[in-house]
Amino acid sequence: MKHQNLLSIAANLPQPPTNRGLVLLSAREMAKMRRVGRLAANLLNHLEPMVQPEVSTQALNDEAARWMHAHGAVSATLGYAPPGHPPFTGSICTSINEVVCHGIPNPKQKLKDGDIINIDVTPILDGYHGDTSRTFLVGQVATTARKLVEATQASMMRGIAEIKPGARIGDIGAAIQDYAEASGFSVVRDMVGHGVGRQFHTEPQVPHYGRRGSGLKLRPGMVFTVEPMLNEGTYELKFLADRWTVITKDKKLSAQFEHTVAVTQEGVEILTLA
Ligand code: MF3
Ligand code: CO
Ligand code: CO
Repeated sequence: MKHQNLLSIAANLPQPPTNRGLVLLSAREMAKMRRVGRLAANLLNHLEPMVQPEVSTQALNDEAARWMHAHGAVSATLGYAPPGHPPFTGSICTSINEVVCHGIPNPKQKLKDGDIINIDVTPILDGYHGDTSRTFLVGQVATTARKLVEATQASMMRGIAEIKPGARIGDIGAAIQDYAEASGFSVVRDMVGHGVGRQFHTEPQVPHYGRRGSGLKLRPGMVFTVEPMLNEGTYELKFLADRWTVITKDKKLSAQFEHTVAVTQEGVEILTLA
C-alpha cells in the first residue's frame, strides 16, 4: 500500500480510487513486464511434470507458492478480493474439466486419469504482474477433450496474431471466435482478457468474441492478456456458492489458455514465454 493511502487511513479520509484505467507502459516498465512474464511461464513449466493422477490441487498450489517466493515473487491471487468476491485463498487457480476458471486449490481434490486442468498463475515481481495459464492433460484423455484443448490454444494464437498498432480489439475476438466455432466449440462471453501491469486487472477489456474492425484501436505500449475459454457445449456459465469457481451451465468441458502480450511498434510481443 502507498504511503499516501496509509496517511488517509490514519486521518479516516476516503481512499483514493485505485487507477484501473488504460495505461501505456514505458520501455523501463516493459523490461519489468518481460521479466515477470518469463517468470510466470517458467512457473508453469516447473509445475507441468507434477500434473499426474493422484496429485492434489493443493500440492500444485503449495509448490507454486514455494517456487514464487524462492524467485523473489509473490502471488497476485492470494487474498485477491475485488468487489463482490471474498478473498481468494489460492496462490494459483486450478480449474478441472467443467470448471471454466478461478478454481480454488483444495487438499481433497485429486487429479484423475482423463482430466483436463487449467493452471493459471500470476506472480508479482518488482511491482509488475505476469498473468498466464495453460490447460494440461492428465494421463490418457478422450479425443474430444484433447481437441478442445488444442483448439483453445490455437484460437488464442490466432487472436494474438491480429495484434499490431492500428488493429482493433474486436479483431482479436473475431479471430478467436471464428477458429473456435469452426472447430465446433463455443466461446465464453462473460469472462474477458484485461490490461495488466502494476495493477492485476485494468482497461482495456478484451472479449474473445466479436466483430472485426470494432473496439479500441491498439497502440504501442499497451499490455493486456488474451485468455480465451472454449466450451464443449454451451458458452453459458454458473458461479458456485464460493463466489469464485466458474463452471459451465451444462457441466460439459471447458479449456483455457492465457498469455500476457504487449503491442510494439512492429506488432506484438508475447511476454509470457519461458
Ligand atoms: N489469473 C486470472 C486472470 O486471468 C484471475 C484470477 S483472480 C483469482 O485474470 F482471484 F481468481 F485468482
Ligand atoms: Co488474466
Ligand atoms: Co490468469
